[in-house]
Amino acid sequence: MILENLKEAAKDPILSLSTACRQDTNPNKVDLGIGVYRDDQGITPVMEAIKIAEKRLLQEQSTKAYIGLAGNEAFNQVMIDLMLGDSSSKQRAVGIQTPGASGALRMLADVIKASTPDATVWLSDLSYANHAPIMKTAGLKVRYFPYFDPETKRVQTDAMMTCLQDAGANDAVLLHGCCHNPTGADLPFEGWERVTDMSIKQGFLPFIDIAYQGFGDGMEEDVRGFRYLAERVESYVLTGSCSKHFGLYRERTGIAVVAAKTLEQSNRVKTRIVEAARSSYTMPPDHGAALVEIILNDDMLKANWLAEVESMRLRIEGLRHKLVATLRGKSGSSHYDFIAQHKGMFSVLGMTPEEEKILREKYAIYLVGGGRINIAGMQERQIDYIAQSILSL
Ligand code: LMR
Repeated sequence: MILENLKEAAKDPILSLSTACRQDTNPNKVDLGIGVYRDDQGITPVMEAIKIAEKRLLQEQSTKAYIGLAGNEAFNQVMIDLMLGDSSSKQRAVGIQTPGASGALRMLADVIKASTPDATVWLSDLSYANHAPIMKTAGLKVRYFPYFDPETKRVQTDAMMTCLQDAGANDAVLLHGCCHNPTGADLPFEGWERVTDMSIKQGFLPFIDIAYQGFGDGMEEDVRGFRYLAERVESYVLTGSCSKHFGLYRERTGIAVVAAKTLEQSNRVKTRIVEAARSSYTMPPDHGAALVEIILNDDMLKANWLAEVESMRLRIEGLRHKLVATLRGKSGSSHYDFIAQHKGMFSVLGMTPEEEKILREKYAIYLVGGGRINIAGMQERQIDYIAQSILSL
């Protein structure tokens, strides 16, 4: 009978860590797992601009009636503006609000499947833990290209490009717009130039995931490579998340963007995304998108928000440098200097599963499998303990 033979699902590799850490009674425990920003008190704050926008929304919102399948169109426009800036490809870009960027990844995977049933999506090795499950559940094939060099802890751009020579017109290549998850190693600008040329020559669809804009080198700097590509390739698809830079994690606020050859074609694809949304969640939740719309359409609030994101970015950068200095000071070695070169919330340190287990069981330090630590989850007073524990392995 239906349901009877179902086995229990495997634990989510990221979300299960938060639960395990919460239940841990060790007073020294450190949650370096899930990608949420925390301040030096260990709190994930509601951003100031969000608080102000929430007050305004509470006063001004007069109805909770349905909005529409593509969500808040004013939100879609401000998010396209934020990610694309003055890029000429904006004229042919259309957006659909989605429940988080994972929702956007799934919607785009569904339209890729509808358009090209035997399509392959290429993922970086390593990639965000949810990329492969989403693509595979949508029925797409997944292949990997070399990306993170475990020796240098940088991107192996040449090996990546050599491998991507196999990607053709039935393929999509998924690239992290900035602040690569999980590794922290970003594609250098020259890599964006090369992948742009390859897409033009070979016809593959660039599929860009931007979840951490503003957390690497700055709000504009972080999308320089992506915008270079967007202006030159024939078509691309893009996901954007407001979880991190607006701190709207639980509000599930994301966007899927399509830029096809012409605006007419983009709009045609949009009807298919909307159709895919209708047959799954129907409409995205409103609250987060309404707040983002208020903030990005108000110069003062936008400036306030940008300043807060910048202070978060600087804090993360400071934590990276402190961790490196502490590891250097304690070990007398420059082995971990690469952490300071990485961008965004994460760095992959390259531990074995046994070492991760020791960190978890002996020191109560929780990190994502594959050796990913969330730098943005550290408190300064924990750095000494974290460094000492890592060096004891
Ligand atoms: C992460 O990578 O930790 C975050 O993006 C949270 C998530 O949704 O997996």
